[in-house]
Amino acid sequence: MEKQLRSKKLFSLQRIPLRVMLVVPFVLQISGAVGLTGYFAIRNGQQAASDVAVNLRQSVSDRIDQHLNSFIQGGREVAQINAKAIQLKTLDPENVDQVGRYFWQEMQVYNLGYINLVSETGNFVGSGRFDAKSQITIDILSPRRFGNNNVHIYKTNSQGEPVALNFVTQAYDFRQEPWYRQTVQAKRPIWSLYQWETQPYHLSLAATYPIYDANHRLKHISWTELRLWEVSHFLRQLSVSPSGRTFILERNGLLVGSSAKEEPYQLVNGRPQRLSAVKSNDPLIRASTQYLTQRFPDLLQIQSPQRLEFWQGGQRQFLQVTPWQDAWGLNWLIVVAVPEADFLGQIQANTRTTIVLCLVALCGAMILGLYTSHWIAQPIVRLNLASQAIASGDFDQAVQVGNVREFEELGHSFNQMAQQMRDSFRSLESANQQLETSNLDLEHRVDQRTQELSGALHNLQQTQTQLIQTEKMSGLGQMVAGVAHEINNPVNFIHGNLKHAKDYVKDLLGILSLYQSHYPHPSSEIQQYAEAAELEFLVEDAPKILESMEEGTRRIREIVLTLRNFSRLDEAEKKQVDLHQGIDSTLMLLQHRFKAKQNLHEIQIVKQYANLPDLDCYPGQINQVFMNILSNAVDAIDERNTKMDSEALKHNPGQITIVTELGENHQVIIRILDNGVGIPESARAKLFDPFFTTKPVGKGTGLGLSICYQIVVEQHGGTLKCLSTPGAGTEFVMTIPLVAVN
Ligand SMILES: Nc1ncnc2c1ncn2[C@@H]1O[C@H](COP(=O)(O)OP(=O)(O)OP(=O)(O)O)[C@@H](O)[C@H]1O
Ligand SMILES: [Mg+2]
Repeated sequence: MEKQLRSKKLFSLQRIPLRVMLVVPFVLQISGAVGLTGYFAIRNGQQAASDVAVNLRQSVSDRIDQHLNSFIQGGREVAQINAKAIQLKTLDPENVDQVGRYFWQEMQVYNLGYINLVSETGNFVGSGRFDAKSQITIDILSPRRFGNNNVHIYKTNSQGEPVALNFVTQAYDFRQEPWYRQTVQAKRPIWSLYQWETQPYHLSLAATYPIYDANHRLKHISWTELRLWEVSHFLRQLSVSPSGRTFILERNGLLVGSSAKEEPYQLVNGRPQRLSAVKSNDPLIRASTQYLTQRFPDLLQIQSPQRLEFWQGGQRQFLQVTPWQDAWGLNWLIVVAVPEADFLGQIQANTRTTIVLCLVALCGAMILGLYTSHWIAQPIVRLNLASQAIASGDFDQAVQVGNVREFEELGHSFNQMAQQMRDSFRSLESANQQLETSNLDLEHRVDQRTQELSGALHNLQQTQTQLIQTEKMSGLGQMVAGVAHEINNPVNFIHGNLKHAKDYVKDLLGILSLYQSHYPHPSSEIQQYAEAAELEFLVEDAPKILESMEEGTRRIREIVLTLRNFSRLDEAEKKQVDLHQGIDSTLMLLQHRFKAKQNLHEIQIVKQYANLPDLDCYPGQINQVFMNILSNAVDAIDERNTKMDSEALKHNPGQITIVTELGENHQVIIRILDNGVGIPESARAKLFDPFFTTKPVGKGTGLGLSICYQIVVEQHGGTLKCLSTPGAGTEFVMTIPLVAVN
């Protein structure tokens, strides 16, 4: 049961409108697809960005590495080539002009700041630029030639020939220079990194190549100078990311160059000092170096490329540190620092674009879905409405077919179906009407037949009643007639002979009187006999007895006549009869019931006869009516009497009153009243129904009054009514027209 309910609930939950059914999955699918696409796009973007960050750091590192290699190599090679040229004597160190021009030529080819040769003779020959913008000069210090230690700086022409003395410096002792001292000390080719004390405060890297003679005495030093601003320039040109930084560190933490717009030195008290990266003005360089020194307290620990990450200002920074070394002992670190934000910015922009695109796609999909669902659902909704209309009895439906082929076919089929239903319904209606008509006809016929049948039943009942009546009457009549006939003959015989008997007795008494007068003294035997027989009384009484006998027979003859009158068997036709005679004869027949018996009390009969003319009627039937009504009255009074004590009965004896009178409309009115039990209201309505009786089985048939009604009303055209007060008595009023109706 619960399961059923639940399934019903589910079923009701599943009753979703078509439009929603169409839109929701569509939108869900699109949302899913768009969401997934967006998700993967963002993820791939992040992945790609991460890869790009890694690749970028690596490639930037590689490019710096390459650049450094070629840049440094240039300085080293030139220093070496020049040294070799002197050792092979292709270059004469004493021929300072030649050496100067030779160096000038080299300066055209190599990207160097300065090319120089110093000799233990005190010569100094160099060619190079003072700074990036200035012309290449040839500088010569030759104590032998000039007699002093001043450096003579010559302007050159395009052929590298010194054309004019530009200016002459004060005495210069190269032996005081750090590079010189370092090289002397190292006794091998080395790099020397030094900060210019004067403007333009170059940070220079000198590749020095000492040249010894066979006795290992230092003869010359061939050197080249690289200006490290070139490295910074290169680093700035490298595009890393908007706020990414590249810089090169010495292992002691001093900056060699950086992509930041700052010099690798700072002026302290007007003197330039190398800048330590941790003191850089650039926050990223500073933070990166701080992180590095935290991570590697001694930067010499970094022996292999490191990919690191650290947080600065709430943002992640990617760091790549690559050791860079050179055959002559340079040992630097190339550092590439890239803030994640540089990529995240792009990623976030991409994400935002992706989300916006997703939302636009979603909105588009929803609008499209709504439109499509409307487009699909509309014909179905129209079909549904039309179906509902048909279901509620409106068959005049035609749906508009859509542009979709299936809907068009569906609509056509629907319209056809509606048409068929319309036709079927109409034919059904006409069939129904016919059926109704025939039904009505049938009902009518059934009614008719029912009426006929009830008429027939009524007739049958009447016939039955009549039959019973006839049977009853004929039985009673025959008996009465038979008895009367049987009694009639002997009574007539007695009555006829009584006259003769009287005559004979008279004669005998006359003879006796004559004997007594002629023989006054008879014998004693006669006297005794006469005395014993009380002769005197006998003579006196005998004629009286005969008289009364005659009276008796006369009475018997009257009774017989009454009986014959009552039965009136011979009178099947209407006759003019005296109504009172019929009543009297009936009363006589009922005489025995009026008299008091063991437990029944006497009933008084009161007659109030009017002077009536003879009545045209069936006398036997009318007598039967009296008989029935009077019998009922006697029964009712007997019933009443049994309920009363004898004292009360003395004051209020049972009484039947028969009143006859002549009515106004030529009719005789007969009232028969009794003071019996009376008839309750409920019984009065059924009084004249055949077989209605309140009497015990075997005593009453219930036919009495129905026969009366039939005789009075139907046979004689009269009326029969009953008035009664239960407990007080009943009155039957009967009217019979004087002139026969039929
Ligand atoms: N005068 C009356 N007083 C009281 N009740 C009466 C009287 N006349 C008739 N009835 C009631 O009407 C009923 C029907 O009377 P009806 O003469 O038709 O049948 P019945 O007397 O019962 O039987 P039967 O066929 O022997 O006459 C009676 O049973 C009786 O209850
Ligand atoms: Mg009766």
